[in-house]
Order: sequence, then C-alpha cells, then structure tokens
Amino acid sequence: MPLTRKAYRAAILHSIADPAEVGIEASYEYFEDGLLVVDNGQISALGHASELLASLPADIEITHYPDALITPGFIDTHIHLPQTGMVGAYGEQLLDWLNTYTFPCESQFADRAHAEEVAEIFIKELLRNGTTTALVFGSVHPQSVNAFFEAAEKLDLRMIAGKVMMDRNAPDYLTDTAESSYLESKALIERWHGKGRLHYAVTPRFAPTSTPEQLTLAGQLLGEYPDLYMQTHISENLQEVEWVKELFPERKGYLDVYDHYQLLGERSVFAHGVHLCDDECARLAQTGSAVAFCPTSNLFLGSGLFNLPMAEKHKLNVGLGTDVGGGTSFSLLQTLNEAYKVMQLQGARLSPFKSLYLATLGGARALRLEERIGTLQPGTDADFLVLDYNATPLLSYRLKQSKSIAETLFVLMTLGDDRTVAQTYAAGNLVHQR
Ligand code: GUN
Ligand code: ZN
Repeated sequence: MPLTRKAYRAAILHSIADPAEVGIEASYEYFEDGLLVVDNGQISALGHASELLASLPADIEITHYPDALITPGFIDTHIHLPQTGMVGAYGEQLLDWLNTYTFPCESQFADRAHAEEVAEIFIKELLRNGTTTALVFGSVHPQSVNAFFEAAEKLDLRMIAGKVMMDRNAPDYLTDTAESSYLESKALIERWHGKGRLHYAVTPRFAPTSTPEQLTLAGQLLGEYPDLYMQTHISENLQEVEWVKELFPERKGYLDVYDHYQLLGERSVFAHGVHLCDDECARLAQTGSAVAFCPTSNLFLGSGLFNLPMAEKHKLNVGLGTDVGGGTSFSLLQTLNEAYKVMQLQGARLSPFKSLYLATLGGARALRLEERIGTLQPGTDADFLVLDYNATPLLSYRLKQSKSIAETLFVLMTLGDDRTVAQTYAAGNLVHQR
C-alpha cells in the first residue's frame, strides 16, 4: 500500500499520565506551535513544528490550524444509543424515569429501520462532539447493535457496544430470557468482536433486571472469548441500592452481586458508582475494573455526587461518561463542566489537566486501550480533534484574556461544547467538519 502521509500544524496538547499519580506538570505535553504527522491512519511523529519540519520532506502536505488546539479524540465510557430520542425527560429519578420514559423509548428499536436511523444520528452526534470512541449500550434487540456497528464500521471508528440483557423487572415487550440473551450475545460477538476497530461488551443492564440465571450466563460468555468487555450500572441511586439488597439478600451488597457472577475484571466498566463504599472501591480496583463517572446524568436524575477523590485513593480506573439519555449532553466538554461542579460541591478541585486526562487517556485506560487511543503518542491510532478558539464570540473574547494553556483548557471545558469541535479525525480520516 502506498504511504499516505499528512501533517497537521497547530497548538497541540495531550495527557501522558494521571495527574493524581505524577503531579500536574508531568501529566501532559504541550506544543505551542506543534506538528502531528499521520501515516496510514496512525500517528508517526509529534513535536515542535520548527524541529519536526526540518526532518520531513519539503513536499509533505501540511494542514495548518491557527488559533486552534489539537487534542486526542474524546472517549465516552458510558452512553445509551436507544436513548438518543429521550434526552431531557422531565421530572423523575432513576427507577420511575426508566419505567416512564426509557423503556417505551427503547422499545422502538424493535423496528430495524428505526434502529438504523438512530444509529446514524447517534454516530454523527458523537463525532460532532469530538467523541471518537464510546462504550455503548444498545437496546435488548440485537439489531440495535448490528445497526450501530454497521454505521461505525463504515467510518473505521474504534467503538465498543453490546445488546442489553434483561429478563425480569421490565415490560414484557422489552425482555429477553437468560438463554436467548446468551445466544443473541454470542452471535453478535462472533460477528463483530475484533472486526476492524470494533469490540463487543457483554451488557447486563443492571442487577435488578437480570435473574441469577442470566447473570451466570453473562459471566460464562466473558470466560468463553478473550478480551470481551462487560458493561453495567452500579450504585447510582439510593432506592436502586435498596432494591438490589431486597432482590439478592444473600449477597453482601451491590458490587458483591456482580462479583459473585464473575463480572468484575480488567475490561469491566461500571457506570455511576455514586454510592459505592470504601470496600467496594477497593474491590473494583483490585480486580482492575473501571467506573464511568457521569456527572450530567447524576445531577439531572438527582442521583448524587460521585466521590472521585475516594476512587483516586484506591487507584481505581475512572473514565468519563455522558450517559445520554440520563445525561443531558453528548459533549464531553460539557460533561467536564458539570464534573467540575460536582467536585466543587464536595469541597474538592478538578484541575483542567485531570479533566483532560479523564476525557482521553483515563478513558483509554479504563477500556484497556491506552496502547491505541487516548494520547497522541507515535504508534497509536490517529483519532484527534481540532478545537476552535474562536468557536463563539464569547469563547474568542474570553480566550484572548488567557495567560496560560491551563487557563485556556479550563475555559474550553467551561464554555465549550459541540461548536468548539471544528474537525474530528478518526484513523486519520476527517469524519466531522463543522
Ligand atoms: N440503570 C439501569 N438502566 C439504566 C439506564 O438506562 N440509565 C441509567 N442512568 N441508569 C440505569
Ligand atoms: Zn446508563
């Protein structure tokens, strides 16, 4: 194959470590006038433009983005495809919200054409917001996942998804059985897992909607294939936590239910974890599991405030999730805006570099994909963004007052949203242009 080489010149910033582990200054690299070189969909060089340009052939194609910042693509570690049409549903907390709005909305995915239409809208929305990788809940219908992966494959995106497994405590029109969920998940795994940049996640919705038999089979699937993901919800809402205790009185607590059915591990991502206790954080960390912190959802559904410092104390992997449609925005910039406030309400700080880490490398580590995505290190996939300093008049004026990249970054995360993302590249291809 002939080499296709392109270079991009702009201010360039990426996270290279967790600020909680190495301190803020050692956690990032910033090139005020940087150059990113991409060969055949992968990053081949990153550095100061003045230094790199001297080593490159004079005729190399360079795209210059003045007044913009290149960052890695954002990683959303928790989102629901079939809830795209119900963002901003009024008035309820988790359990009533599920029954009143979520289940009826997800039932529309029984129609294949609907699934395909929403999958296209959903992927466009991810890319418009700079999300290049997401860990995605489908609906209970296998065709939700087929429609999603078909759309993602066309653009060569790195995506992870799974069909929801739920065989109780949900309307009949939306339940599977332990056996059908096993067989349907297996067929999806055979078709999609490891195809191009796609991966499969075994997806029991949450403990209350699965029988012990279904949870057993979910654990069995994880043992049958290498590198499968597992995604579910945990300890989001206090009523939910009480309900799990009633449904599984023989278990020590919510996490112990999943632990018993062998659902913890290095590719397991638990959404929310707002009401986890110290011991549960320790057990999650010990098993290499990750938590998806979903601030816009936790505030919108009145679920509570995620205790990030406690997770950090246990060295627990944490990624950021939008949790659309419980969450109110596809934008990880807006999600970070709310994450900052969640920390403020607990008397804690979220530095802009920790935020950058959560949206990129932290998410990649939660998904065990840090060798491929989450940074701009040479050898990784060329999934990156061009963030426009002049996206809105207010952003433009505000950033003119900025005295540092830290301030610029924080303002981007406070005022930024989909308008800020001028271009999105995946595997070196331009997949969104504002
Ligand atoms: N718990 C179980 N299902 C869901 C869901 O769809 N959204 C959220 N936020 N929590 C859940
Ligand atoms: Zn969710």
